[in-house]
Amino acid sequence: MNTVKVGIIGIGNIGSAHASAVYSGEVDGMTLAALCDTDQAKLSILKEKYPSVPLFSNAEDMMKSGLVDAVIISVPHYGHPPLAIMAFSYGLHVITEKPGGVNCSEVKKMIVAAKTSGKVFGVMFNQRNNSLFAYAKELIASGKLGDIKRSVWIITNWYRKQCYYDSGSWRATWSGEGGGVLLNQAPHNLDLWQWICGMPSSVYAECNVGKYHKIEVEDEATIFAEYPNGATGVFITSTGDYPGTNRLEISGTKGKIVIENGKLTFSSFLYDEKDFRMMAETDKNPIEVTEICDTAYNGHVDILKNFTRAILYGEKLLAPGEDSLNELTISNAAYLSSWTGKKISLPLDDELFDSLLKKKIETSLSTDKKQTSASLSSDYLGKWNTNW
Ligand SMILES: NC(=O)c1ccc[n+]([C@@H]2O[C@H](COP(=O)([O-])OP(=O)(O)OC[C@H]3O[C@@H](n4cnc5c(N)ncnc54)[C@H](O)[C@@H]3O)[C@@H](O)[C@H]2O)c1
Repeated sequence: MNTVKVGIIGIGNIGSAHASAVYSGEVDGMTLAALCDTDQAKLSILKEKYPSVPLFSNAEDMMKSGLVDAVIISVPHYGHPPLAIMAFSYGLHVITEKPGGVNCSEVKKMIVAAKTSGKVFGVMFNQRNNSLFAYAKELIASGKLGDIKRSVWIITNWYRKQCYYDSGSWRATWSGEGGGVLLNQAPHNLDLWQWICGMPSSVYAECNVGKYHKIEVEDEATIFAEYPNGATGVFITSTGDYPGTNRLEISGTKGKIVIENGKLTFSSFLYDEKDFRMMAETDKNPIEVTEICDTAYNGHVDILKNFTRAILYGEKLLAPGEDSLNELTISNAAYLSSWTGKKISLPLDDELFDSLLKKKIETSLSTDKKQTSASLSSDYLGKWNTNW
């Protein structure tokens, strides 16, 4: 195989951006072989835009057509695990949009199916390509930061207006989306948080439902996390703050990292702080400061390129599909904590989470929101960009 023939399932905001990128040749080694959407109106638009690309209204028909080697899954979150499991059963490689799914129990089944199939399985964590986060991860992995004492991430620049929530019948409902800001916008940051700082051992959270919008899920959340080494973490996110903030601060025993406004500042201490605080001889712990600015990157396209090279040449995935379980574990634990008022120890009780989510779904408001026609262009990516 020297090219990967990809089929895209779900051609909405992000699926149309992926289609445009692949069709225009931005993803070396990948060709657009088929498109699938259940919405007939979208298929009519797609027929005009991509006259040479076969269209399907049913994902299984596309998977068994023999036209595709791999699929990109970009339907609403609940659909990710079942479609991925189906694709693996047809021997296809899979990259799914974030989050991996809504509940960890379903994502675990998807991971097992991926392993059984032996196919390449990626997830669209397109911010892992950001050089600042990669550098922060390296500083910690190399021991330059020392032991982590605390991380604080204020990520409130996911501002959304009511019309965004009204733009799709699935959005911001327990039955259609399965959550709010923690499940739609913040998965990128929750993933980076655990990618850089590791997984917490317990989570306590407050999730504020409909605080700024007429929605039945949370548009603000505050998570307090504890880690096996005694470190603590705070994660604050919201879609109701304007202007928002995006500041990640990680304090270690040998230094401190701050990422804000497209810049990483690393303050490295001469003495390990846990030794220094016990020293009588000197009251100065000299600091050396390094500043690094982010470099341009094309997150989504770069992840697709890496996925393609993983299929063709066995390149290591930057965002392996199984990693999607970690950030989802944190958000599931945050919901569970908010619903029960308790601190949640990890590993998560999947059964308890599923039973409480089921109750939310049963009382989920039916909505008469209409799906708006998404722009079938790459414009969406510009809209998505956040100001780092
Ligand atoms: N990585 C990112 O930056 C990013 C950005 C936006 C959205 N997303 C993710 O992508 C997913 C889709 O979000 P969106 O904003 O594009 O939604 P959207 O509502 O704009 O598009 C979803 C599309 O999927 C179609 N669809 C639904 N079920 C289907 C099925 N079974 N088979 C085929 N088509 C089906 C719908 O008709 C719709 O066209 C979500 O999980 C979201 O979290 C990721």
